[in-house]
Amino acid sequence: MILVTGGAGFIGANFILEWFSRNNEPVVNFDKLTYAGNLQNLASLQSDVRHVFVQGDICDSQKLKQLLDDYQPRAIIHFAAESHVDRSIHGPDDFIQTNIVGTFRLLEAARHYWNKRIGKEHYDFRFLHVSTDEVYGSLPPDVPAFTEEHVYSPNSPYSASKASSDHLVRAYHHTYGFPTLTTNCSNNYGPFQFPEKLIPLMIVNALTGKPLPIYGDGQQIRDWLYVKDHCIAISRVLEAGVPGKTYNVGGWNEKPNIEIVSLICDLLNEFCPGDYHQLITYVTDRPGHDRRYAIDARKIERELAWKPLETFETGIRKTVQWYLEHKDWIANVQSGEYRKWIAMHYQ
Ligand code: NAD
Ligand code: DAU
Repeated sequence: MILVTGGAGFIGANFILEWFSRNNEPVVNFDKLTYAGNLQNLASLQSDVRHVFVQGDICDSQKLKQLLDDYQPRAIIHFAAESHVDRSIHGPDDFIQTNIVGTFRLLEAARHYWNKRIGKEHYDFRFLHVSTDEVYGSLPPDVPAFTEEHVYSPNSPYSASKASSDHLVRAYHHTYGFPTLTTNCSNNYGPFQFPEKLIPLMIVNALTGKPLPIYGDGQQIRDWLYVKDHCIAISRVLEAGVPGKTYNVGGWNEKPNIEIVSLICDLLNEFCPGDYHQLITYVTDRPGHDRRYAIDARKIERELAWKPLETFETGIRKTVQWYLEHKDWIANVQSGEYRKWIAMHYQ
């Protein structure tokens, strides 16, 4: 079996669902269930024996050791993280704990476990670290997209914590020969994304007639990738990636935020007619806001024959439809904690 950390979150849950759509290898899903973890994302697997859920924290070395001894996975796919930039600005502590200390504890537990494996089980073992394009910092306009050789220049507590974890992963390969793989992906969107992130926040606010808060001038550029394409890329890297290497993953899909929000308003108007554009509200910019990210995804295409299947136009349409069809899911995640965050951050 494989071990997935953070499998109750947005990308982790999509990864597990995508994994089972193609093969029957069991998954043990280790997740702390923070505000961002939601087992409802995996409700369709409730009586599926291929999925085993274990609640726990990647900072807990004892629990990690027990987990590895009990389930003996052939690979670890490490998604667990604090992932929201705005939260890292309000309170970096959890980001340092989970993203840096947690990744370190997981690497240590996994290294000791790997050292005890023999023969094929030792040689074929893989540790895949899921990271972000934000580690490369902000790209000026008209400069080529980030390649795997781009210098690290993280600008937020979130991206600095992810960059630290990437460096630890790199060092474990270099020092111990530990068989790591790292993916650095651009902005994901799709089903089950928590409505604190741009796209789901805009959809859920628009549906309830609330303001659509655009930071600064709305001209910041992100490179959007449909989450299922990211999940397929991760499986491909696990299957054929070379230990020690890193792979950039992106959608060749650079768009300014205001264009994204405008498109969401148009799509909502098509499905549930209304003037959503008038809800657009320019608000104070995010401190240290990175202006542009763009991924050069030629290496993963050339070496592993991966490229995105979804265009932004098809992916965003599916995403808006998914949220329209899952109003119960939206209502359930808008708990007291969610309302407190929205009130505090957008006050
Ligand atoms: P998410 O916030 O939706 O989910 C994170 C999951 O990790 C949650 O289920 C949470 O309960 C779990 N978790 C948090 N702390 C934990 C801990 N200490 N121990 C165990 N579990 C813990 O995040 P996401 O958007 O699904 O991102 C997953 C990974 O992908 C992250 O590492 C993130 O940095 C990376 N990434 C995200 C994007 C994106 O656009 N969302 C893009 C590139 C890379
Ligand atoms: O690039 C990959 C990263 O993408 C991941 O590593 C992160 O985990 C993920 O959260 C995401 O980070 P961003 O900061 O780019 O995503 P977010 O959805 O928070 O914001 C996208 C853009 O929209 C960004 O320029 C800020 C802007 N924005 C966001 C929110 C929440 C707004 O203008 N208004 C908002 O209310």
